[in-house]
Amino acid sequence: MLDAFGQPQSLVVLGGTSDIARAVVHALAPKRLATVVLAGRNEERLAEAAAGAKAAGVDHVPTVAFDAGQVDRAAAVVDECFAAAGGDVDVVVLAVGVLSRRELELDPERTAEVVTTGFAWPAAALTAVAARMKAQGHGRIVVLSSVAGVRVRRANFVYGATKAGLDGFAVGLGEALRGTGVAVQVVRPGFVRTRMTAGMSEAPMATTAEAVAEAVVAGLASGAPVIWVPGTLRWAFAVFRLLPPSVWRRLPG
Ligand SMILES: NC(=O)c1ccc[n+]([C@@H]2O[C@H](COP(=O)([O-])OP(=O)(O)OC[C@H]3O[C@@H](n4cnc5c(N)ncnc54)[C@H](OP(=O)(O)O)[C@@H]3O)[C@@H](O)[C@H]2O)c1
Repeated sequence: MLDAFGQPQSLVVLGGTSDIARAVVHALAPKRLATVVLAGRNEERLAEAAAGAKAAGVDHVPTVAFDAGQVDRAAAVVDECFAAAGGDVDVVVLAVGVLSRRELELDPERTAEVVTTGFAWPAAALTAVAARMKAQGHGRIVVLSSVAGVRVRRANFVYGATKAGLDGFAVGLGEALRGTGVAVQVVRPGFVRTRMTAGMSEAPMATTAEAVAEAVVAGLASGAPVIWVPGTLRWAFAVFRLLPPSVWRRLPG
């Protein structure tokens, strides 16, 4: 159960090798975090992330292997994570995702891969998490969405579409869970300097994984249903949503 300051004792990270997720674990570790289950596909990176979490002060850091290409295994992976956490989980962070590449935007196989990893697997996994948390009567689900899904851009429309779908799904799931003791929090960062964006030219208002983590920790305390990072993007996108396509397509980033 979260304490009065919104701090969890047990955390499951789906996408435990993600730079942003690792920063979230490090931000929560010095507080009251006792168990973190890191789920991911790359065993070497998982072991490295687990060692980092332990060094940051978390006692129990089991890992669970999965590949988001296997949507039919999503519920089993979630069950495995809850079992590894000891049955009761305060917070689940979903950080799985993959960027689309412009040169592959007309490749049907790559599109299927990006959509499966960024939307189909997460939607199936979040459904399983919601059922588990509803049964335990409490919990928070933190979903890494993106401003890329708030208004989809030509530059990364396949990725943006997965985020638009995931964001809508998460908001709807949050509505469906009202009154159950379980809440969904949607995080909408702009450009974050991580492994995912390495080598790309930065968009305006670029930020760091640590800043996103700080906003997530503050969001857990406030219970805000939507967390923009940086916060100014909320107002920028209030305007961006209304721009005509002829202006929108000319904006940098
Ligand atoms: N960086 C940004 O600018 C930005 C902005 C807004 C939102 N976000 C979102 O924030 C989340 C975390 O991103 P990040 O910046 O921390 O990037 P990241 O380090 O590349 O994290 C992406 C995560 O997804 C996992 N993943 C990818 N394909 C997978 C698959 N088939 N099966 C299992 N796991 C898979 C990666 O695992 P591996 O370690 O095995 O690759 C990694 O854990 C993502 O959902 C991303 O879309 C990022």
